[in-house]
Amino acid sequence: MIVYFTATGNSRYCAQLLAELLGDECIDSFQFIRDRIGAELASEKPWVFVAPTYSWQLPHVFMEFIRQSSFSGNKNAYFVMTCGNDIGKGFSQNEKLCQEKGFCCHGTWPVVMPENYIAMFTPPGPKEALEIIEAAGPVVGQCAAWIQQGQPFPTRKASLLDGLKSGIVNHLFYRFQIQAKPFRVSGACVSCGKCEKLCPLGNIQLVEGKPVWGQDCTHCMACICGCPVNAIEYGKASRGKPRYQCPKL
Ligand SMILES: Cc1cc2nc3c(=O)[nH]c(=O)nc-3n(C[C@H](O)[C@H](O)[C@H](O)COP(=O)(O)O)c2cc1C
Repeated sequence: MIVYFTATGNSRYCAQLLAELLGDECIDSFQFIRDRIGAELASEKPWVFVAPTYSWQLPHVFMEFIRQSSFSGNKNAYFVMTCGNDIGKGFSQNEKLCQEKGFCCHGTWPVVMPENYIAMFTPPGPKEALEIIEAAGPVVGQCAAWIQQGQPFPTRKASLLDGLKSGIVNHLFYRFQIQAKPFRVSGACVSCGKCEKLCPLGNIQLVEGKPVWGQDCTHCMACICGCPVNAIEYGKASRGKPRYQCPKL
């Protein structure tokens, strides 16, 4: 079974492609995460977890969801991490997670997809995004082939820098960088409430028709990238940048 988390659609696209290639079921973790409950899932096929990379690890909210959930049937687990560039040593946290859950870890594989982190970087424009997605197709196909053959993903070497990125930098990133305070809404807001619905943590409330962010943000970028009228900014960091949503949604 394919179980995914997504904010801007990249991981959903990869998860659905994998499900199609493997003839397997695909489950979105969104509602479970939003309701703070684990899922009770059963499958005779291997578990394939697909999610974005946040600071060179799986998103902490997705790891927490896996911790809270029960998975019966097959004991093998694969991880596919979509990323704008690289996953550092993200595989090592996934191995630990497998130990905790009693899974036999069959490895982690990165799939480069368009960057969505507009609080720090500039996402590609539409043409470049499509080229990146096109190039990701065969990588997902290769993952599906390994899974189909029951083979673990090949092991990858991590450098000292990879270890630092997925370790201390990830820790500092969650401690200092992730905050909702800089989110602002402009007069362009049409009070449609889409941002409230898209937030996987239920951290946005409409007050007099305008979004107000609480403390519980994971910087997924769903609200800012999903706003239909581009009324949301992240301080000055997002100004003038294109918003990103996977065009294959
Ligand atoms: C908070 C945050 C942190 C990110 N950190 C990384 C990173 O460490 N390495 C990387 O290559 N991409 C990083 N990205 C980019 C995303 O992993 C990438 O665009 C992903 O495909 C988005 O998936 P989604 O559309 O399913 O949400 C980050 C994005 C966000 C929002």
